[in-house]
Amino acid sequence: MTERIYLDHHSTTPCDARVAATMQRMLVEQFGNASSGHVYGQEAAEAVKTAAEQLAGGLGATAPEFVFTSGATESNCLALFGVCLHPRQRRRKIVTAATEHPAVLDPLARLAREGFTVVRVPPYPQGHPQAGQVDQARLLAEIDDQTALVSIMWANNEIGTIQPLEAIAQRCEHSGALLHCDATQAVGRVPVRLDQVKVDLLSGSAHKFYGPMGVGFLYVRHTGKRIRLRPLVEGGGQQQGLRSGTLNVPGIVAMGHALQICLASLETDAKRIAALRDRLCSALRDAIPDVRLNGSALDAGRLPGNLNVRFPLVEGEALMAATPSVACSSGSACSSVKPEPSHVLLALGCSEAEARSSLRFGVGRTTTEAQIDAAAERLAASWQRLRSMMS
Ligand SMILES: Cc1ncc(COP(=O)(O)O)c(C=O)c1O
Repeated sequence: MTERIYLDHHSTTPCDARVAATMQRMLVEQFGNASSGHVYGQEAAEAVKTAAEQLAGGLGATAPEFVFTSGATESNCLALFGVCLHPRQRRRKIVTAATEHPAVLDPLARLAREGFTVVRVPPYPQGHPQAGQVDQARLLAEIDDQTALVSIMWANNEIGTIQPLEAIAQRCEHSGALLHCDATQAVGRVPVRLDQVKVDLLSGSAHKFYGPMGVGFLYVRHTGKRIRLRPLVEGGGQQQGLRSGTLNVPGIVAMGHALQICLASLETDAKRIAALRDRLCSALRDAIPDVRLNGSALDAGRLPGNLNVRFPLVEGEALMAATPSVACSSGSACSSVKPEPSHVLLALGCSEAEARSSLRFGVGRTTTEAQIDAAAERLAASWQRLRSMMS
């Protein structure tokens, strides 16, 4: 049987075996409810505290600033609905980027239906040196004293663009708007330091950094301006009432461990992964004429494992279907069941046909050179086959 090759690490990552062992120990041995007063509960609560400290140490924050959730979708909803629908919120404007993930754009569309003004700022277009980054001058001009919230992702899930946030954070600070950042694709892959960039709220998800699915966090800054959030989930009052429900202790502990492992070798992993990604890009370009890169240049502010390319004359979906042993993606995983072309590529200025002929690859920690070479070979063979069927 042909070896399967996983090149879809933006969609999810395999849980690290050491993290899975930690999780199993928590499930089987330290299974207490963190809210219970007895020794089992105390042990669980202590383990959660340690995990919060691991996140805090890794991200330049403090342990009490983390609210644990079921993943980044929930974290984003807690940030966006939580800020905008708080009874004391008077401001009615939200500023975001056209290239955000649906886990931000969909809640914002709901807020727009409920009367908020939502401004979606476009990115610099394809061909611009900062292609994919939000048009900073336009964004800064939109942030005013009516702006409740600005939501800008740290790194894009389709084209890997890393967004500089310093000037946006300063503008938010100045105008009294809160800055939320969906850092789901950045945490554990590139440095994310909350003591260096003044983001007020930041979402992350364990399964994107070799932890388990179904657990994530929302960082809520405790210093400076007061952040008022209306909770989404009410019940037992856990987590200072911000997210009721029994804590997912095994998941939270696993998430802390997963981040620690990522951060221990962040730089070396990033270098190795970027080299593999570059190798994939070169191999595809050598084998198929006119393969074009979507987004910025590979060495210009892009996630190390991200590659997004357009193939000439063949639809991405068809190429994927013809190469089932190579796992990649034709859009963001969460919306790839929808037939529409990628909103990110359209926002970059790609035509519908160009967007449909694109594929996203995500190289990860376990990817090997042999896998990269085999994947490029198989994709090129499929492309040739599809082309010969068309002519
Ligand atoms: C940028 C971004 N935000 C949010 C999400 C949703 O994360 P989760 O699966 O943890 O809900 C994803 C998942 O693909 C993502 O890439």
